[in-house]
Amino acid sequence: ISSPLIAPSILAADFARLGEEVAAIEKAGADWVHLDVMDGHFVPNISFGPAIVKALRPHSKLPFDVHLMIEPVDPYLEAFASAGADHITVHAEAGPHLHRSLQAIQALGVKAGVSLCPATPPEALSEVLDIVDLILVMSVNPGFGGQKFLHSQLRKISTLRGMIKSSGKSIRLAVDGGIDPETAPLATAAGADVLIAGSAVYGREDYAAAIRALRNSN
Ligand code: DX5
Ligand code: ZN
Repeated sequence: ISSPLIAPSILAADFARLGEEVAAIEKAGADWVHLDVMDGHFVPNISFGPAIVKALRPHSKLPFDVHLMIEPVDPYLEAFASAGADHITVHAEAGPHLHRSLQAIQALGVKAGVSLCPATPPEALSEVLDIVDLILVMSVNPGFGGQKFLHSQLRKISTLRGMIKSSGKSIRLAVDGGIDPETAPLATAAGADVLIAGSAVYGREDYAAAIRALRNSN
């Protein structure tokens, strides 16, 4: 098994120095930059929008993995694509037409991701696997960093890994929320191949050591 990709979430970074913070994780060995967009409606918190994504774009060559916790999503997809998103992930729960949203993302030339909240079963994705490039399993309820990992989500990760295998497609399977060197090996053993981590990277002094600790934890 190859080592998982590490995607630090800038939600836990110093917002007054975001450009430097994004450059710092690239230097520290991160694979993707994870950008959490929250609207105060789909989730009970507000973070940032496409203007920030655009402003950060020149500060990193890494893929920008944009996680949209917003509802509705369709009116904003183009803005995030032109701001420099390489992947756009929408929530299956954000509706009303998940299939249409995923088609729209791919039509913009961006990789299409879909995320599931803890209460949503893996079967919710059975009819969209053919138009999905990335699945993101939330291992906390979306809205805030620094929450405790929900072990109940491990079974969902294994089920999704099985569904991906039978689809024959190379779909990335990411886990997001409460990932640290203790929980990371559980998620990768269940089948995750992308680890998204906020506090476990930006909350540490040494970003390179923090990223190494996550990558080598399995
Ligand atoms: C939560 C976000 C996560 C969050 C993870 O809604 O989607 O990406 O930043 O933060 P930690 O790693 O601190 O749980
Ligand atoms: Zn996220």
